[in-house]
Amino acid sequence: MAILIHNIKELVNIENGENRIWAAGKEMEKLLSIQDAFLLIEDELIIDFGSMKDIGRLEEKLDTISMLTEIDAKDRMVFPSFCDSHTHLVYAGSREIEYVDKIRGLSYEEIAKRGGGILNSAKRLQEASEEQLIEEALPRIEEIIQYGTGAVEIKSGYGLTPEAEIKMLRVARKLGEITPLTIKTTFLGAHAVPLEYKGRQNEYVDLVINDMIPQIAAEDLADYIDVFCDKGFFTVEETERILMAGIKYGLRPKIHANELAYSGGIQVGVKYGALSVDHLEYTGDDEIEVLLGTETMPTILPGAAFFLNMVHAPARKMIDAGLPVAFASDFNPGSSPSGNMQLVLSMACIQFRLTPQEAINATTLNTAYAMGLSDELGSIAIGKKANVYISREMPSIEFLPYAYGSNKVDVVILNGVIIQ
Ligand code: NIG
Ligand code: FE
Repeated sequence: MAILIHNIKELVNIENGENRIWAAGKEMEKLLSIQDAFLLIEDELIIDFGSMKDIGRLEEKLDTISMLTEIDAKDRMVFPSFCDSHTHLVYAGSREIEYVDKIRGLSYEEIAKRGGGILNSAKRLQEASEEQLIEEALPRIEEIIQYGTGAVEIKSGYGLTPEAEIKMLRVARKLGEITPLTIKTTFLGAHAVPLEYKGRQNEYVDLVINDMIPQIAAEDLADYIDVFCDKGFFTVEETERILMAGIKYGLRPKIHANELAYSGGIQVGVKYGALSVDHLEYTGDDEIEVLLGTETMPTILPGAAFFLNMVHAPARKMIDAGLPVAFASDFNPGSSPSGNMQLVLSMACIQFRLTPQEAINATTLNTAYAMGLSDELGSIAIGKKANVYISREMPSIEFLPYAYGSNKVDVVILNGVIIQ
């Protein structure tokens, strides 16, 4: 099985020779592309690409392929699919009532204190079966695929009991088997303290460490471990205990940090070699300094900042200081009920002042890194997985974030298969 796309107006975000693992600082602006290009896919993989002028070199190769689908891209462009490195897309029900409370002036923390927020989702998830959760998640997945996402990370954290956390992670793993998305899973037992543990937060942390982590590791249900290290949720000390326990079981940290305050979350994440630290609304010079020279991807979630009307993470300052930055959706029912990465791309440009080139790197290569997948996804490179989309007709690359709100994806190819 092979697909040859020719007459591509622009083939965007290619690797030239050596593959990058991420783009940082000034390099984020570098977005290599080829005008009037072809792309050859065989089975799951990208096996060749180049200028239409050189398409003759494929002759011999094409003779060996029995089933070839040819696509004439005409005025359309080809991009690597978005990687969405931070979501909570397995959940039960929705929380639009709290949305109205928010509009009326209650803060995220006030809603959480009243048993709303994460605990509200936890109650509903505990009551739902695995089948129900899959059924609810599938339309969300179909929608994000149509908007160009090819890989997602999915967190637990609406279970908050050993059984329900395990149920969530099994559902997330199952979604990886039954949908064409590449899925990584993250255990987030320390997302909130359940009501039964009010005033006994330490005991809940013990439950996470002694009960949940060993069971989840035994069933190989998670790739990463997360803690909501923030004011009103989990302290730095608690985060350290949980991360150390997770690391013992081979779970690398990817944590929620500095969304609500200068929580020390960034520092503790870096200390424990986190693959990413996410949210980052409260990032100052000290935090930037701590991140520089590390292997931790600072990840910004503009949907949550928009939906909760929060201060913005200083993305521009971070990039200018030489850091890489990733942008993900945070798709969840409480703070970002959308997994639309095209919107994330536009917000990165408009609200966080990234150039379109920086924003494309931030939502493809850098998010692939933040999922531990930049060797196989996130750009157009020989040997990488064929997760790409053909755009609608567009005058330029800049049009993609510019024309916000409408879907610019036409054809989706995931794992070398045409999906739509
Ligand atoms: O990433 N910040 C913590 N967790 C989620 C919100 C979850 C919720 O409100 O349900 C987030 O925004
Ligand atoms: Fe989140």
